[in-house]
Amino acid sequence: MDYLYVTVREATDNDIPAIMEIEGLCFSNPFPESHIKYEMHENPVSNFWVIELEEKTQNLKSVVGFCDYWHTFDSATIVQIAVHPELQRKQLGSAMMDEIINDCYAKKVQTLTLEVRKGNTKAINFYLKHGFKEELVKPHYYDNGEDALYMIRKVED
Ligand SMILES: CC(C)(COP(=O)(O)OP(=O)(O)OC[C@H]1O[C@@H](n2cnc3c(N)ncnc32)[C@H](O)[C@@H]1OP(=O)(O)O)[C@@H](O)C(=O)NCCC(=O)NCCS
Repeated sequence: MDYLYVTVREATDNDIPAIMEIEGLCFSNPFPESHIKYEMHENPVSNFWVIELEEKTQNLKSVVGFCDYWHTFDSATIVQIAVHPELQRKQLGSAMMDEIINDCYAKKVQTLTLEVRKGNTKAINFYLKHGFKEELVKPHYYDNGEDALYMIRKVED
């Protein structure tokens, strides 16, 4: 199938099945649906977006990734970003990251931060490619005892 359009947009309840599938495929400790709904509807600092592919001739649309980031005053934090495993390394994560960074500029955010598992090499490479720097290690940050890398990207100086 030829996907001709790529859109990053706010998530809706109709997207929840696709989000939950990707969540389960991408994360060893996936969030439950109740958490996703909280992020989408109740958390006042959350921005929850999906990336959708559209095949023009048959008008088929598929949600193939999502991201969740929190904005508070002049800082922001990426909570999750994920692309369906069958469609990774096709610049779809980058399309979402570009939208996040553009939104940060628009909101005059100065620093964008995140935590990532120290062993998650592909995500670390992804963040390095998008201008994040390794700031410090948070020992035993995750439930299984794994360390987190705390990474920062300056948005506005
Ligand atoms: C991290 C993630 C969102 C990246 O999305 P993606 O669409 O696959 O990434 P992109 O195609 O935009 O890659 C952009 C750059 O990131 C780096 N990168 C991405 N995947 C990589 C991999 N498997 N190995 C090494 N570098 C990688 C590369 O520098 C790549 O640029 P290039 O392809 O020109 O070399 C995706 O791998 C994913 O969903 N992982 C599982 C969930 C996860 O771990 N999320 C992060 C923690 S919340």
